[in-house]
Amino acid sequence: MLASQDPTGLPAFAKLQELRAAWEQRTVAQAFEENRGRFEELSLELPGMLFDYSKQRLDADVMQALVEWAEEAGIPAARNAQFAGEEINATEGRAVLHMALRGDAGDHFQVGGENVMPEVLAVRERMLEFAESLRSDAAITDVVNIGIGGSDLGPDMVVRALRRYASGPRVHFVSNVDGAHLESVLADLDPKKTVFIVVSKTFTTQETMTNAQAARAWVVKALGEEAVEAHFAAVSSNVPLAQAFGILPERVFGFGDWVGGRYSLWGPVGLSIAVAVGREAFADLLRGAREMDRHFQEAPLAQNAPVLAGLIGCWNVNLWGFSSHAILCYAQDLARFAAYMQQADMESNGKYIGRDGRPVQHATGPVVWGEAGTNGQHAFYQLLHQGTSVHPADIVAFKEPLSGSEDHHRKLLANAIAQAEAFMRGKSRDAVEAGMRAAGKPEEDIARIAPHRVFEGNRPTSFFLFDRLDPHALGQLIALHEHRIFVQGVMWNILSFDQWGVELGKELASSVLRELEGEPASTHDASTTALIAACTSRR
Ligand code: F6P
Repeated sequence: MLASQDPTGLPAFAKLQELRAAWEQRTVAQAFEENRGRFEELSLELPGMLFDYSKQRLDADVMQALVEWAEEAGIPAARNAQFAGEEINATEGRAVLHMALRGDAGDHFQVGGENVMPEVLAVRERMLEFAESLRSDAAITDVVNIGIGGSDLGPDMVVRALRRYASGPRVHFVSNVDGAHLESVLADLDPKKTVFIVVSKTFTTQETMTNAQAARAWVVKALGEEAVEAHFAAVSSNVPLAQAFGILPERVFGFGDWVGGRYSLWGPVGLSIAVAVGREAFADLLRGAREMDRHFQEAPLAQNAPVLAGLIGCWNVNLWGFSSHAILCYAQDLARFAAYMQQADMESNGKYIGRDGRPVQHATGPVVWGEAGTNGQHAFYQLLHQGTSVHPADIVAFKEPLSGSEDHHRKLLANAIAQAEAFMRGKSRDAVEAGMRAAGKPEEDIARIAPHRVFEGNRPTSFFLFDRLDPHALGQLIALHEHRIFVQGVMWNILSFDQWGVELGKELASSVLRELEGEPASTHDASTTALIAACTSRR
């Protein structure tokens, strides 16, 4: 099985395999009974945040071996290389320095021997001034972010998450090349009062350019060609193409190729966030992330939240063979967090080629998925509790209410905490039968139904408890996962910062499109040919 192969070939892995074997007959519930200090040993407190991993299938010995494994695998050196601006995105020959986008004047991030901070700060200031100008313009009621992937998921997730901090124009997101997306957003908007931000690192992405051209046509139809300048802005590394679209140079906000799309919300890609919540809240978001950067750089590995979270993920994937990872946010405002994490994680670590260019012999990134609690409880938790496969989960919750209602919030928190307990503890046959007897059920019903009501438990979760869902905490949470993904990429010996796997579909879509537009058919398999024929004959 791929999962249990050692990604690193290092001594600590053999130790981990022994420790894993010892856990075969052990449950987390037993471990809690045996060790009254288990929670204290297996949790970590950072300002405003508690990370409780004591309900994972591990103990202090496992954690120590995991940390040794990380040391042997060179996590500190890899982290230092990233922060030093080395070209760790080897297939594209690029540095990976999204941390610079949340840096401040005292920081020094170098790319190719040059400190990028002066340029980062200048663009940030220009971008924030533009955001403030839109926020204070009474004539503008709506701002539409047109982008996809990293140019959409991050800003959309953050704007929703910080809904309570919104004080500017309404901010909308259009990503899908399904025309229904743009159409449904434009239906309620007035071209005179709307500004579009076209966000595309490359300014060539099919979906984004199609939507941007359609939005442009919508503006031009209502207000004339001369209105384009006032109603469009762009965020892109490809400034010439943005200008060719008709966007004024002072309304184009660029960033370096050392920022990957899925790590880009901290800079100009976050323009829609700044429009929604304003300069101060945006600064708090960056501050929270920057604090997590510092923690990642400075904390010893054994008390380093992104390192520990990454290693626990590897333990679950490579020692237990679990191939999915659920993210269950008990916060309706974080409803898009799992979607955002899917791109961040799966586009980074969904790879079978190692750094040496050869297929790896171990499992890498799991399927990431999730839904806000408590909604998920009434959908897929059945399988999480009683299915035949095990799906480790991160539960994210906040001490303070997200709405004005204390009553709602107590119930929300009660569910989050109770689910973590239920996943771990389960319910034994004896307990089920005793409960049924106490309820006066006949013995034949008990014999027939009791097995269906048993929960084996021992389902691993980590609990992330924050004080409140504010910009600072959100910055911490996102940056924690960015670094966690980095750690896992190093442990799995893969390159986390390219995404060649999305190219083939894009290429083939272009050739299929030409055929749908009437060009002669090229050679396909019978299924593809039939599907193209079915779509063209319908027309
Ligand atoms: O789908 C792949 C991808 O390149 C993502 O990595 C990126 O976030 C998205 O497309 C959008 O790209 P762009 O910002 O260049 O339009």
